[in-house]
Amino acid sequence: MEARGLTLALGGKTILESVDFTAAPGEVTAIVGPNGAGKTTLLKALSGELKGVGPVRLNGTALTDLRGWQVAEMRGVLPQASALAFPFTVIEVVRIGLSSGRGGGDDRRALQALARVDLAGFAGRYYNDLSGGEQQRVQLARVLTQIWEPMSEGQPRWLLLDEPVASLDVGHQFTVMDIAREFAASGGGVIAVMHDLNLTAMFADKVWVMHRGRVAASGAPRDTLTTDLMQTIYGCPLQVNTVPPLGIPFVLPQTRVS
Ligand SMILES: Nc1ncnc2c1ncn2[C@@H]1O[C@H](COP(=O)(O)OP(=O)(O)O)[C@@H](O)[C@H]1O
Ligand SMILES: [Mg+2]
Repeated sequence: MEARGLTLALGGKTILESVDFTAAPGEVTAIVGPNGAGKTTLLKALSGELKGVGPVRLNGTALTDLRGWQVAEMRGVLPQASALAFPFTVIEVVRIGLSSGRGGGDDRRALQALARVDLAGFAGRYYNDLSGGEQQRVQLARVLTQIWEPMSEGQPRWLLLDEPVASLDVGHQFTVMDIAREFAASGGGVIAVMHDLNLTAMFADKVWVMHRGRVAASGAPRDTLTTDLMQTIYGCPLQVNTVPPLGIPFVLPQTRVS
C-alpha cells in the first residue's frame, strides 16, 4: 500500500500536507498521533473513500484504475465509529461483509468470524442493544468476513482499522491485535490507527507518527516512539523506557505533581 504527496486543506486548515506513506504486506503498520493529526483522513485516502488528495496504489495498481468491487475484494475497512439507524441483528451486520467484493460465501464464515472476535452466540442479538466494545467487534467480524483469506490469487489483502481497540477491555484488545498479527503472518497487510502506544509498541512492526497533518517519523517502534518525539507531539510529560528482554518501548505518562 503506497501513497505519494497526499495533500488536503479544508476551510484554510491543513489536514494533510505532502504525506508519503507505505505499508508492506506481512506486517502490522500502526498510525499514531494526537487527536486531529490527520490519522482518519489518511486512512480514508488509503481506503479510497476520500478522493482527489493524491495517488494511492494498492498492490501496485492505482486505486483509481480499480473497479469498486475489485477494491472491496482486496481490502476491508473498520471505521472509527459505526452507528446503525435500523434494528439489525448481529448476523445481519456481519453478512454485509459477505456481499462485498465478488460476493459468495455463506453464514458459516460469518459465524466463524463472530467466534473469532469472541462473540459466538451473539448472532441473533440486536446490534443496537450491544455495548460499544461488542459493536466494535461485530464490525471487525464484518470486515473479516469480507476478506477472510489474507491472500487472494497471490496478492495480499489489506485490513484498514481505525482505532480497532478504542473501547475494548485489555483481554479483547489482545484478541483484536492477535487477529491483526495472524492476518499479517499469513501474508496480508494491516494498517491500524492506534492510541495505545504500549499496545502499538508490542504489536506493530512499523509505526507512522502523524502530527498536524504531516509525518513526524516512521520506522520501527523503538526508533519512533521516543521520549522526545512523544513529549513534543502529545504536549505532556512522559518517559519511554524499554521492557526487557526484547527491548520493546514502554511509554509511561509522568505526573506533574512532585
Ligand atoms: N470534513 C471535514 N471538514 C473540516 N475539517 C475536517 C473534516 N474532516 C476532518 N477535519 C479536520 O481535519 C483534522 C484531522 O481529522 P482526522 O483525520 O479525523 O484526525 P484524527 O487524527 O484524530 O483521526 C481535524 O482537525 C478535523 O477537525
Ligand atoms: Mg480519527
